[in-house]
Amino acid sequence: MVVAGRSCSGTRTTLAFTVVVAPIIFASVVVEQTHIALTRNRGEMLATWVVLGAPASIGDLDAQVLYGEDDLNLTSSSALAVDHSYTDGGFNGTIFEATMTGLKDGCKYFYQTTAHGASSPTFHFTYKVDHESIRFLSYGDMGIKNSHGTYRMTNEDARSGDYDLLINVGDTSYADDYKKDHNAFAFDAHFRNIEPHASAMPFMAVPGNHEKQYNFAGYLNRLRMPAPPRTANTTALSRFYYSFDYGPAHFVSYSSEHTFVPGSEQWQFLSSDLMAASLPAARLRRPWIIVWSHRPLYCSDSLTWATRCTKEAELYRANIEDLLVAAKVDLHISGHNHQYERSFPVAGCKGAYTSGCNVSQNLHNAPWPVFIVNGAGGNIEGIEPTWMPDKRVPFRAVHDQGLHTGYARVSVNRTSLDWTFLYSGAGVVPGLNVSSDKDAGKVIDHFMLTKG
Ligand SMILES: [Fe+2]
Repeated sequence: MVVAGRSCSGTRTTLAFTVVVAPIIFASVVVEQTHIALTRNRGEMLATWVVLGAPASIGDLDAQVLYGEDDLNLTSSSALAVDHSYTDGGFNGTIFEATMTGLKDGCKYFYQTTAHGASSPTFHFTYKVDHESIRFLSYGDMGIKNSHGTYRMTNEDARSGDYDLLINVGDTSYADDYKKDHNAFAFDAHFRNIEPHASAMPFMAVPGNHEKQYNFAGYLNRLRMPAPPRTANTTALSRFYYSFDYGPAHFVSYSSEHTFVPGSEQWQFLSSDLMAASLPAARLRRPWIIVWSHRPLYCSDSLTWATRCTKEAELYRANIEDLLVAAKVDLHISGHNHQYERSFPVAGCKGAYTSGCNVSQNLHNAPWPVFIVNGAGGNIEGIEPTWMPDKRVPFRAVHDQGLHTGYARVSVNRTSLDWTFLYSGAGVVPGLNVSSDKDAGKVIDHFMLTKG
């Protein structure tokens, strides 16, 4: 592992590849919605941004990301953008993507995204692929209503510079809850709301059921995750699952909106990826394995008890719980239910959790994964406040209360994974946008997994 910052240049004038293109300046062009994501390649960060209303065909030559370690010399490195567009939901704009390369572990990079002579503010992130420790944020089921507490607090977290990564467990913007063929505005509004943090740390996502509309067009066009390159051997499904290493953890994401039954493409991916990550040499390098998807394998919401939390969850456990246990996965994060709950280390529950449950309260070298439902980001549909009684759910350790929104802050080093879920607001009413700051910052769950 590399010590923080040892390889950064710290100079103000490193000359790299510079592209100087006379910009075509269009009146009232606004570069917006910048966010970044890891790619499949070490030393890279993909920037994505949007210009609304501009025709796609004029973007290539003057759109780029300018970046460098020196905030006064952003032209030290640059990468030309590739642009595309789509029309589902009435989207009218251009989406630009460009990859920053040659990034060194532990180094802070400043960057601007540009198009048609306009540019974004200067953003920055620190690349921490091999750090001994990282801190990440996680939320799920976050739309453009009832979410202002969550994006306000996560934007503040980003400004602190203390967070390195964001794990989004799906259902992004809830665009499909708005008028069909006129709802792309929800994606635009959402990515504007979250730009302060999604531009400051890799924003790693997974599709939820709310991204299904238009065959996942909103997700696929705006969120390029580190899927394998499109070749004759890749499939349309390959953009929905991926894994990456960051800091002391191996992160694995799969789509619960596509099949992952044994033998399926996603099951094969999970099987081989988890097997490789759990080999002793790999585990020595990255002690933690964190898996996430949208739909829960363990949950205890009473509203959906008879459907999601028993029938569906049992099928999902039958698909992959053996893989998670065999690889000694530490944490499985999901959303889908608009609430928060955390299990004890658990495996083997059958049916409505009435038999087969192996439950441990030992968080040191925990024998089974901890399962978290982290779907309280806030959205137009509201927060689900009903819970099954404790005696019916032997795996449950903690759940939230009432109509609060919230999210998680997580610190991971080589021997501990420290998870805190805190409220970001209260008083969510479905359909309205009236949640307040009441109880924001109140810690609802704190636990620490340790190993070694
Ligand atoms: Fe969902």
